Amino acid sequence: MSSTTILALETSCDESAVAVLRRRKDGSGELLASLVSSQVDLHRAYGGVVPEVASRNHALVLRPLVEQALAESGLSARNLDVFAATRGPGLASSLLVGHSMAKTLAAACGVPFVSVNHMEGHLLSPFLPSLEAPQPARSSNRRPGIPPHLALIVSGGHTMLVYARAVGDYQLLGRTIDDAAGEAFDKVARLLELPYPGGPEIEKQALAGDPAAYDFPRSMPQELDFSFSGLKTAVRYALPAVGDIPGETPNLCASFQQAVIDVLVSKALRAARESGCTLVTLSGGVSCNNALRTTLAEACRNEELEFLACPSRFSTDNAAMIAFAGLLRFQGGYRSQLCEDIDPNLALCGR
Ligand code: KG4
Ligand code: ZN
Repeated sequence: MSSTTILALETSCDESAVAVLRRRKDGSGELLASLVSSQVDLHRAYGGVVPEVASRNHALVLRPLVEQALAESGLSARNLDVFAATRGPGLASSLLVGHSMAKTLAAACGVPFVSVNHMEGHLLSPFLPSLEAPQPARSSNRRPGIPPHLALIVSGGHTMLVYARAVGDYQLLGRTIDDAAGEAFDKVARLLELPYPGGPEIEKQALAGDPAAYDFPRSMPQELDFSFSGLKTAVRYALPAVGDIPGETPNLCASFQQAVIDVLVSKALRAARESGCTLVTLSGGVSCNNALRTTLAEACRNEELEFLACPSRFSTDNAAMIAFAGLLRFQGGYRSQLCEDIDPNLALCGR
């Protein structure tokens, strides 16, 4: 097979997403469709994601999304070589919808099914643009586009530092021991009565604030792990003394955001040094944050490290990253069983 075309479904949380991707053996390819039906407006009224509302909505929108993705790709289901879906981690009732639909499509079309760890989708997403302009392998045993690297993955549910040697060969170097970075953004936003999801709102407010206005803690637990719950509590304790909270919101947001960035950047650089990686990548929903991207980029430049951030359009949950990870896995010979179950706590890798 000179090229492989995959259709992937992502329904781990509150975004219903479908993508179609084609990749040739030399690493070149095209993203033929990438659709995301966001449920943010449905969940905003509750201040967070309501699992049953999310899964019911996935079931409603997924089939029309698949039809639209195929139409945009100029393909029919018979042209597809493999189907993929997120197996976990995520909300059980949400995962079941996309995972079951992909298995059903694979069975109906008589083609393989490949399940994907959502965090592997995020981890590999910085390399998605390399499809359109594949990089020549830097040494003969390197696969095109996926060199060994240190990955900082920052999302709503996870904060991880991973040493990625190759596709599927990962070592966990650090993770959060309490709140994820995105979760801290969302919880602090709620304290400040900003709308859900909090990350983009805090970033917007922070633009008008002073990052040094409040001296919030930079929690540095053991080794390469993270802790953000103390920072959230520090913001809560600061509030009674603030007086005019709406007037001070930009300063609170800028100071909180700076504390998160300082910790993420210093631990990522330390992990790169300790693992000997010369390439640092950034992915996950929080990687949309422009201040984080530019601070980490500059820090890497100062340390003469290469830096690759996931493009913003692939930072928050999407199916293009699941299609990409699924295709790399499929081309490496990996297959999933049609009797496979979802796993809401699926781990990416161990230490
Ligand atoms: O990766 P993602 O879409 O979903 C999970 O897998 O969790 O990440 C969502 C998280 C949310 O917590 C959201 O507040 C955060 O990413 N986020 C941001 C920004 N945009 C999204 N955090 C900080 N700054 C942003 N601009
Ligand atoms: Zn995610």
